[in-house]
Order: sequence, then C-alpha cells, then structure tokens
Amino acid sequence: MKICVIGTGYVGLVGSAVFAEWGNDVVGVDNVKAKIDSINKGEMPIYEPGLPELVAKNIKAKRLKFTTDLKKSVKEAEVIFVCVGTPSSQSGAADLSAVWQVAKDIALALDGYKVVVIKSTVPVGTNEEVERIISENVPKGAKFDVVSCPEFLREGYSIYDSFNTDRTVIGSKSQKAINKVKSIYAHLNSHIVECDLRSSEMIKYASNAFLATKISFINEIAQICERAGADVKKVAEGMGFDKRIGRHFLNAGLGYGGSCFPKDVEALYRTSTDQAYDFRLLRGVMDVNEMQKNYFVNKVKKYFQGNLVGKTVACFGLAFKENTDDIRKSVSIEVVKLLRSEGAKQNAFDPVATKNAKRELGNVGIEYFDDPYLAVKNADALCILTEWKEFAELDYAKIGKLLKNKVVFDGRNLLEPKALRDLGFTYFGVGRESNGWSYLNKGNGIAQGGAIFKKKA
Ligand code: UGA
Repeated sequence: MKICVIGTGYVGLVGSAVFAEWGNDVVGVDNVKAKIDSINKGEMPIYEPGLPELVAKNIKAKRLKFTTDLKKSVKEAEVIFVCVGTPSSQSGAADLSAVWQVAKDIALALDGYKVVVIKSTVPVGTNEEVERIISENVPKGAKFDVVSCPEFLREGYSIYDSFNTDRTVIGSKSQKAINKVKSIYAHLNSHIVECDLRSSEMIKYASNAFLATKISFINEIAQICERAGADVKKVAEGMGFDKRIGRHFLNAGLGYGGSCFPKDVEALYRTSTDQAYDFRLLRGVMDVNEMQKNYFVNKVKKYFQGNLVGKTVACFGLAFKENTDDIRKSVSIEVVKLLRSEGAKQNAFDPVATKNAKRELGNVGIEYFDDPYLAVKNADALCILTEWKEFAELDYAKIGKLLKNKVVFDGRNLLEPKALRDLGFTYFGVGRESNGWSYLNKGNGIAQGGAIFKKKA
C-alpha cells in the first residue's frame, strides 16, 4: 500500500520505518528540512534502539523515503498518517495547532479518494474537527474519510512494540476506511478494536491515564510500605500475579515523566472539567506524582542534616526513563534542579541523554561524565534517577571506594538493598527496607521512614 506519514517525531519516524518493513511503499514528511536531510543521511534525530538499522534497510530496499514535499506525497498516497506533536498548552489542554495546519495542508493536496488517519494523541472531538477542516478546504471531486488510530508504543521499545502490539484501535464513521487501515495491521494477529472516532480518541487517553494511575497508586503504597516496614517490590510482585491487576507499571520510584503521561493525564483532566466533571482520581494521580520527587530530595537532604550546600551528588540517569535520550518532562532532570536549588553540585552520568540534558541544565554547578566511576569519585552521595538496567550491573564495591560517603539513594529500586548493605553502604530505596532509615532515626528526631511501626525491643 502507498502510505504517507506526516511528522517524523517518535511516532512518525518509527511508524514510517515499520510500515515499510511490513512491505508498504512509504514516504515520511516533515517541514523541518534539516531533520529530513539528516534522516536521509542515516542520522536519526532521536536515540531509539534498532531504528537506524530499520530505516537504512528500508531506504536501501526503496520502500522508504523522506521529504519535505507534503503536497506530492499526499497526492501519491492511498493512506495518510498524521503523526505531528500535540504538546501541552499553557492551560494544560493539548495544543492542536500542528494538527489543524496539517489537516488544511492535506485538504489542499487531496485528489481522488484518500484515508486520513490521525495517530497523534488528540482529545475527544478532534477527529471530527479535522473532518470539518478538510471538508471546507478540499478541492471539488476529491473524497476522503477520517480514521482515528492511536499509537501505543513506548519510547525505547518502539520497534519491538510495533511488531508485538496488544491491540490496534481503529475508529471511523466509514467501514470502508476502517477496512483499509485494518489491512495494514491484519498480519500482526493482535486484537483489532473497531469503534467510532470519539471512543478511539478516548481509548488512548484512558489507557495512558490508567497506566499513570497504576504508577501513582504503587508510589502511595510505597509511602506506606516505607513507614510500615514492608517492601513495595515484593508487594508489587504479589499483586502482579493476579491477572486482573498485572505486574506491569507497578514499579515504585520517582514518578512518571516523559512527553506522554504528564501531558495526557493533564489533558484528560482538562477534558473532564470542560465536560463539567471533576475527575478527582486524576487530580490525586497528578498530586502524588508531584510529591514523589520532592519526597526523594528531602530524603537526601535529611541525610545531610538538612543542608546540601557544598555537597556533590553523583546523579545516574538524566533521561525520563531507560533506553532513550529523551529528557522531556524527565523527573531525573527535575530532581537535579531540586538538588541544585538546595545548593548541591552534581556529577551527572547518563548512557545517552547527556547532550540533551546539557541544553536544559547548562554547565553551572554540574559536571557531566562519560564514565560512571569518574562521576562518583569524591562525591558525597550517589542518586539513581533513571531505571537504566546497566546501573545495576556496575561494580558497587569499586563505587563504594570512590565515593566520599558510602550512601546511595536508589530512586528506581534498581539495586539489591542487602548486596549494598553487605558492601557497607547506607541504602535508601523507595518503599522498601532501607538501612538508611535506621541510620537517620538515630539522629535528630527524623519522623518519616520506618518510624511508625518500629519493632518492639
Ligand atoms: C507511554 C505509554 O507506555 C505508551 O503505551 C504510549 O504509547 C506512550 O506513552 C505515548 O502516549 O506515546 P512512554 O512515554 O514511552 O510510553 O514511557 P513509559 O514506558 O510508559 O514510561 C513513562 C514514565 O513512567 C517513565 O517516566 C517511567 O519511568 C515511569 N514508570 C513506568 C514508572 O515510574 N513506573 C513504572 O512501573 C512504569
């Protein structure tokens, strides 16, 4: 099938390569020429495992090309996927200006019959508005249908997810258009949910909001575990075997970040208030997420008797999660900023996100390292901020010797507390046994952490 993909961000670039790999004839379009030039040279604008190889393979096979020429690409395609960004506007609602612009551009280029598929994450009612904009601008004789087909891939695993999706959601008024889009995904043998436009739009927001709710839920359980002396990792494991609950997205930590969850939870909350409904649960989800990073920084602060001025904290992880160089709404970056506002310096290490982080954090009070062992040398403490698995594989005996104080604040519960304790570390996890708390509780009346249900002597 001839496919045009508009927007070469995560969804569009990965989508273009994946559609081509499935045997379609694909053209990816973006209005940023420099981006198109670099993709054509094989340089990806994002770090995504497997993506450079997949793009190169399909360009070579002549199934995939990239251009800035939207008009020509739309004319040549049977199906047009819209994958442009929908960032948060100041009010918290999604900023849909790029979607409106592209709808108009597509309309002006239409001839014959085309299917326009909205993949961008857009609030309920947006697809109908796209339909209206195209109808108002389309040349005589051209016909089209609009389809909503939200994306569910995760950054860092997007190629794997594209081939192993749990479901594909296809919403439209037109069965003919649904069938056309269905034929692109049919070979995956995953569930296909056919529905109306509005339900499809809602499925995307409800899915992201539910996953964010799971994260905030387990983070609140972690708060209680920490006070009651239970281990949230074990609790999540025990809960997760129940198929109705599932183990995924029950990792307690610093909270969720990234370009999707914070924006989508807020946008769904905004949709609820626009419909004169107060989605109270989502307010709680956002509150907990905000609290989690402050709570973590307070732990570090308490360890240093409330004063971080002049301390150097080694920070492992700057991206919003593992396997990506994306720092948008990264909680790790926010933690670095909070530590900085307390007067601490940082020695930062991230396997791939340093370049992007430098743009956000600058060079004042922070040093960037390519080697984790150099980052911990003479630091007063180590904080693990992103769940990169390779952080767990480092030599902590060596790290212990390099640090000024053998103390680690594990914001992602990545390390084994006992192994660290055996090496003589003071270990703080999130919602799990932390010998750090007994250390603190010996001090000056620190109230939180293992203090409520202390075992009787
Ligand atoms: C998320 C969804 O998982 C995808 O299904 C969706 O397609 C995508 O948003 C989107 O809307 O485009 P992504 O933002 O790539 O994907 O990242 P996730 O893997 O979902 O992680 C989001 C955040 O939650 C990260 O900051 C991560 O550290 C945090 N997280 C995740 C936890 O704190 N605990 C967990 O158990 C899982």
